[in-house]
Amino acid sequence: MKKINVGLIGFGNVGSGVVKILRERKTFLKEKIGLEINIAKICDKDIVAKRIVSVDKSLLIREPREIIHDPQIDIIVELMGGIHPAKEYIMEALKNGKNIVTANKALLAQSGKELFATALDRGKSIYFEASVGAGIPLIKSLREGLVANRFKSIFGIVNGTSNFILSQMSHQQCNFAAALKEAKARGFAEKDPTLDIEGIDSSHKLILLTYLCFGRLVSLDDIFIEGISQISLLDVNYARELGFQIKLLAIAKKEGDELDIRVHPTFLPAGHLLASVDGVFNAIYVSSDLAGSLLFYGPGAGQLSAASAVVSDLVDLTQRLKAGLFRPTLNIVMDNSIKKLRRIDEVESRYYIRFMAKDQPGVLAKISGILAKFGISIASVTQKQRHLLEVVPIVMIIHEAKEKNLRSALEMIDRLSVIKQKSVAIRIEEL
Ligand code: HSE
Repeated sequence: MKKINVGLIGFGNVGSGVVKILRERKTFLKEKIGLEINIAKICDKDIVAKRIVSVDKSLLIREPREIIHDPQIDIIVELMGGIHPAKEYIMEALKNGKNIVTANKALLAQSGKELFATALDRGKSIYFEASVGAGIPLIKSLREGLVANRFKSIFGIVNGTSNFILSQMSHQQCNFAAALKEAKARGFAEKDPTLDIEGIDSSHKLILLTYLCFGRLVSLDDIFIEGISQISLLDVNYARELGFQIKLLAIAKKEGDELDIRVHPTFLPAGHLLASVDGVFNAIYVSSDLAGSLLFYGPGAGQLSAASAVVSDLVDLTQRLKAGLFRPTLNIVMDNSIKKLRRIDEVESRYYIRFMAKDQPGVLAKISGILAKFGISIASVTQKQRHLLEVVPIVMIIHEAKEKNLRSALEMIDRLSVIKQKSVAIRIEEL
C-alpha cells in the first residue's frame, strides 16, 4: 500500500482547507507516515466558485455517488454538513466498504447509534476529530492517550460563539443583544444563532464526549439544556463581584451509579482554569482516574484548525489500514457501572439566585421563609442599592439544594406581591 485514495464530499470552508493541507504538505506528510494521501475526487454542488486552493477540474464532480461507488476510493470525508442527505451518503458509503471521516456533530448526535452500528457491522470506522474543538486533539487523546483511564467528569466550553458573547458582555459591559451583534459582525455567530446560543451545538458535542468517555450514546432529549440568551449584564457583574465567571458549560459527570449530563450557564470560581477561557476559544476539562485532571484548550473553530483535525483522522485511518491493525470500535466501551441517567430534578447544586423585589421591611424574611420551607439554606445575601418604593436586586448564594426543591421554592417566591420579576437562578459548579 503506497497511496490511500480519498473522496471528499463538501468542498466548502473546511473541505477546501483539507485539500490545501494535503496539497501543500504532501511530501511532509508522506515523510511522516510513509504513504501518500491522495484526494481522488471532490464533490460539491458548486464546482466553479473560487476556493483557497485551486484543483484540477477533472477532480471536481457534482454527484456524490460517483465517490461512494468508486472502488478506488478507500476513505470518504463528509464535510457537507446537515442531516440529510449527509446521513444517507454516509450510510451508503459504509455499506460500500468505505471508512468515514466527518465533522458533522449534529448528524452524529442525532443518528450516531444507527451510523456507528452500521460501521461496526461492516467492519468500518467513523472518525470525527473535527466535530468537537476543531483542531484541539481532544478525541484522539480521549481514545488513545487516555485509553487506560476511567473517566469521572468532563466540563467543556465547547461553543466559541457563546463564550465570545459572555466574554464580550463582561469586558465591554454590554447586554446580550449588543454582544450577539458584535459576534455576528465578526463572523462568529451565524445569521440564525439559535443552535449556538441556546446550547444545542454544545449538547451535540457533549453527546460525542459522553460517548467517548462513558460509552453511552445518549440522545438530545436525555440532556437538560439551557442557553445563554437570558443572561443579563447584571448577573455577569454580580458573578464577578462574588468571585465567579459565567460560562456556558457542557457537563457530564458520574455520580455514584448515575450519569449527570447537562448544558447550561454556570457560575465557575474565578480561579479555575476554565474561568479564564475567553472569547471564541474552547476548553475541555477532563477528570480521569489515572492521568488526573487535564485541560485541552485552543481555537474551537476555523478553517485550517478544523481541517488540521480532518487530516489527522485521515492519517490515523491510513496508518491503521496500512498496519492491518484496524479496529472499528475506536476504543470505546460502555462504562457498566453507570446504571441510569440522573434526572435534572434530582441534581444537587449550589446556586446563585437573583430576586427583583420591592425594597421594604419583611421582604427578606418572606423569601428566606419559603426557602427554609423547602430545606434550602442560604450561604450569603447581598443587596446593594436602596430605593424606597423601587425594585432592587437581592442576590443570594445558596448551599447545595435539589433542583426540584429550588424550582418549587422559586415558583412560590415569584408569586409574592413584593417580587416584581421572574427570579434568576444559575447553578454553581466547583469542579
Ligand atoms: N459554531 C461553533 C461555535 C463552531 O461557535 O463554537 C463549530 O463547532
